[in-house]
Amino acid sequence: MNIPDIIIAIDGYSSTGKSTLAKLIAEEYSFLYLDSGAMYRGITLYALENGLIDKEGTIDEVGLRAALPTLDLDFSTDGTYIGDRCVEQLIRTLEVSSHVSPVSAIPFVRSFVDEKLHAFGKRKRVVMDGRDIGTTVFPDAEVKIFMTASAEVRAQRRFDEMKMKGQEPVMEEVMKNLLERDYIDSHRETSPLSRAADAYVLDNSDMTLHEETVWFQGLCQGKFGILE
Ligand code: DC
Repeated sequence: MNIPDIIIAIDGYSSTGKSTLAKLIAEEYSFLYLDSGAMYRGITLYALENGLIDKEGTIDEVGLRAALPTLDLDFSTDGTYIGDRCVEQLIRTLEVSSHVSPVSAIPFVRSFVDEKLHAFGKRKRVVMDGRDIGTTVFPDAEVKIFMTASAEVRAQRRFDEMKMKGQEPVMEEVMKNLLERDYIDSHRETSPLSRAADAYVLDNSDMTLHEETVWFQGLCQGKFGILE
């Protein structure tokens, strides 16, 4: 099946499998995959490493604002980079996950990330996942998907993912972090997580990845009149 040169925006709650589906679409249809959450995670890691977040979790916004213009944050085929250092593993720890939502709620942080995402979006044939891609970053994206799943299913997925990476997660902490992020992401003032009116909802609580890809195919066939 051939999909036209479009932008695909995949938004939704934490651990709904947005990046898994987005990567699969990118591979199958030769699209560029962009993980917008990785940008917020990279900034959070940088802030933690440079003493811009204290033990109570208070963010030094003045310091962060001053540092951002010189922060060399980028994507490569093997993940997220700060300068020439690959930080792909480091940005996925529970420590970063616990601080990323407040960092991503800061308006100047969002502008910094949006600028980078817009530059990538100029290329079309892009599939991007996040929280506000279909509502704010690319409101004209041709295909918008809003992903959701039950909190239990999502916490279990995150737990398994962390175990696979050799971390030692505690289920109660994983669930707490997930619910906290849901709350902050959907209640912040700037670009809160919400479903775009024209987004297709995908609740994958009881779906296999294969079923999700079949669902996506059907969506594109219907939308673009593809007979295959
Ligand atoms: O998708 P993720 O869990 O890696 O995202 C990390 C955090 O970044 C998430 O808690 C909310 C924030 N985020 C955002 O505010 N807007 C986006 N487009 C992507 C992520």
